[in-house]
Amino acid sequence: MILIIDFGSQYNQLIARRVREQHVYCQIGPPDIELSRIRSLAPQGIILSGGPASIYQKASPKIDPRVFSLQIPILGICYGMQYMIDSLGGMVERTTKREYGLAMLNILEPSGIFSGVSPQTPCWMSHGDVTAKLPEGFQITASTENTAIAAAENLKRRLFALQFHPEVAHTPEGKRMLRNFLFRICGCARNWTMKSFIGKAVGEIREEVGGKGVILGLSGGVDSSVTAALLDRAVGRQLTCIFVDNGLLRKGEREQVKSLFKDYLKLNMRIVNAGGRFLERLQGLVDPERKRKAIGKTFIKVFEEEARRLKGVEYLAQGTLYPDLIESRSAFGGPSAVIKSHHNVGGLPKKMNLMLIEPLKHLFKDEVRLLGRELGLPDDMVYRHPFPGPGLAVRIVGEVTPKRLSMVREADSILIEEIKKGGYYGKLWQSFAILLPLRTVGIMGDKRTYEHAVVVRAVTSLDAMTADWARISHSLLARISNRIINEVKGVNRVVYDISSKPPSTIEWE
Ligand code: XMP
Repeated sequence: MILIIDFGSQYNQLIARRVREQHVYCQIGPPDIELSRIRSLAPQGIILSGGPASIYQKASPKIDPRVFSLQIPILGICYGMQYMIDSLGGMVERTTKREYGLAMLNILEPSGIFSGVSPQTPCWMSHGDVTAKLPEGFQITASTENTAIAAAENLKRRLFALQFHPEVAHTPEGKRMLRNFLFRICGCARNWTMKSFIGKAVGEIREEVGGKGVILGLSGGVDSSVTAALLDRAVGRQLTCIFVDNGLLRKGEREQVKSLFKDYLKLNMRIVNAGGRFLERLQGLVDPERKRKAIGKTFIKVFEEEARRLKGVEYLAQGTLYPDLIESRSAFGGPSAVIKSHHNVGGLPKKMNLMLIEPLKHLFKDEVRLLGRELGLPDDMVYRHPFPGPGLAVRIVGEVTPKRLSMVREADSILIEEIKKGGYYGKLWQSFAILLPLRTVGIMGDKRTYEHAVVVRAVTSLDAMTADWARISHSLLARISNRIINEVKGVNRVVYDISSKPPSTIEWE
């Protein structure tokens, strides 16, 4: 495995994904990680990430400098390079000119990291400090017009430093450089695949769970579905899935989930019909946060009631992913770490005295999808657009009523059908309809109408942190608009949302 030290770069998850794409397992750890922990992890290589700090700041993140003497190959990127240089006796200087953007890299030493890389290749720079003097034993391996020491190495000690970011797409030969580090320098094997993960995870789950019962809140989303399929593989009938129909689901969703998990995969599954309870609790609520809270609380109550009927349950499984864990900074704390409450079931394990089991907690979303396929889930489940826990309630601006629910559900179903037919579904992060709490004037068949407006939202995104509105074709927009207005009773206007995130969000509430 490769250990990535997180110095706070916005790109550190990207580094991890790049490493895993090469079928090498990696984990991200904090700078204050103990040397003894590093030794016990026994990484084949360490990557020090970039970060926003300057090594001159008092509170800048630091790793124990004895890490450089562990005889493990180390690659320092940007801040990681500066930290390495400074710790080993070189000199890092503030520049007056911050360098940001594309630069042409001239390779001076075409071996090691740069083996097989073109002599001149673009790279992505983003820094305020530069290396002015190298520590003893280091040599310059590449430079750019503005940065004399853009890369350096100490081959004997297997220490490598890059001032630019090899992990971003703007450094087109960055992948090759990372591959050189992983395979030529660290001698990693390409053995991280979802097949190998299943074997390992199944063994670990069986060992942990023994003969006890496990419950899982199945939402029909990718993460909980893949968790269910994996647990089914590991403990079979010891797993009970609880599917709470909160009445806020998309058209046909309950039937789809039932036919896949209960009828086809034959999972132990309980479907709770709780739509009425949720609607009752939502009555009169307009504020988005109050709506969310009411839904969360009701979910916990319903789930708890159902779970109490089962005997011998000691574990609650959740589909927490690696980015959630990294954000909660517990990624490295081992099994006893504080675990971020996820979706709607936060609070449940403590309340019910259950132990948490989170078999996907070291995976990224794209890996979870591959895992789902490997476990035999169909593509239309594995590649579904994300759907929020509070469901259609956050897509009805204002109060949720049965009539409004049915309007937004119909509009959404038409929209998704057309997006799929138009070949856009796989290209979008999400697409959905929103119902506005206002009515406007229209004309239909010579008659004046005064009806609701529906918003069409379609976005592209990599991770939902930022998003852009999708440039879908005008003819497709026209079809969607015509069909919604013609087929959804109570709607006489459709608008397209052309806001990006930030400053807007993806959902409207
Ligand atoms: P926003 O609207 O914050 O959404 O840009 C980012 C992503 O998160 C999803 N989302 C939620 N998921 N419970 C969830 O499980 C929620 O309350 C919730 N709110 C937003 C949203 O669909 C998007 O993918």
